[in-house]
Amino acid sequence: MENSKIHFPKVNFIGNKEKLADWICDNFPKDAESVFDAFSGGGSVSYRAKKNGLRVISNDILKINYLLAKSLIENNKETLNENDLGLIFSGRPVKGFMYKNYSDIYFYPEECKELDLYRRNIEKLDSDYKKALALVLIRRSMIRKMPYSRFNLDWDKIKLLRDEDYSYKKYKRKRAYHNKSFKFHFLENLSEYNNAIFDNNKKNKAMNKDVFNLLGKIKADIIYLDPPYTGTMNNYYGFYGLVDEYIDSKKKKPFENNFIDKEKSLLLFDKLFSRLSGYKYWILSYNNNSYPSKEELVKIISKYSKDINIIEKKHNYKITGKAKKNKNREYLFIVRNK
Ligand SMILES: C[S@@+](CC[C@H](N)C(=O)[O-])C[C@H]1O[C@@H](n2cnc3c(N)ncnc32)[C@H](O)[C@@H]1O
Repeated sequence: MENSKIHFPKVNFIGNKEKLADWICDNFPKDAESVFDAFSGGGSVSYRAKKNGLRVISNDILKINYLLAKSLIENNKETLNENDLGLIFSGRPVKGFMYKNYSDIYFYPEECKELDLYRRNIEKLDSDYKKALALVLIRRSMIRKMPYSRFNLDWDKIKLLRDEDYSYKKYKRKRAYHNKSFKFHFLENLSEYNNAIFDNNKKNKAMNKDVFNLLGKIKADIIYLDPPYTGTMNNYYGFYGLVDEYIDSKKKKPFENNFIDKEKSLLLFDKLFSRLSGYKYWILSYNNNSYPSKEELVKIISKYSKDINIIEKKHNYKITGKAKKNKNREYLFIVRNK
């Protein structure tokens, strides 16, 4: 398929680098043939790198993010067809994990039963790539039905925002899409996701580990680091942990090494940078509104390499308040190991 026709689908991942992915990948050193995207999130940078012909290894500690990479980065050709859809949407809603644990917490009981049915049916698909793609489309449906697109809101607030009359009176928007079915959203997004799957003739790989267990073990020319930005809204388990629980049908604990606490994050950055000697280049994304500052980061990095180049770009995140508009700078630290 012609490269310009391949598009990253609507994933809607908080903290995604979709609008910056071209800039980031255009700044990858030209002699690099492979990249390890160690905090891959929604996968926008991995996807761009795959498009550019690099061999990509994507990793994220959240299972749903791993499945995004499994279906869009590692997977080169498998898509969902009519038979698969027949299987996913067959049968009657069942009382499973979501119904028992999250009725009237994140979704209405009947909706939880639908999710439980689809979860069971997806397991019957005949390949791991199809299973990953189907779960990623269910994620997309769950996100579309959830006000603010994250799973750390109270039920009272969720119900209120899903009330179309209230929403219209208050915000002049009905947000009717919150009340469409999971199946509706799944089918609405299906062709966009199916069409996003392509082969770059490389053996790409998706992983689901704490990055601190992989450093040095994964070989690549570049390690790209896009950690949660400390001091910003960055509780990724809070945003998406529910989807991981749905996938595994069991309650889970938030993950460690999450870059939420300021003091701990300083130690984590040091630990991270201390283990990158096996990579020719390490490239770190950060910005001017997070902690530690650019200067403090340089101080830590320079314990391990003196070859640091920092480039920056104006960038406004969607959630940024008006007061901060145009003051945001996105940084790219390009570090070379001697
Ligand atoms: C800023 S987001 C990455 C966004 C991504 N570049 C994109 O474009 O969507 C940071 C990611 O790091 C993941 N993460 C946080 N701590 C981690 C850890 N210790 N090991 C691996 N992944 C981690 C989070 O789950 C989250 O998806």
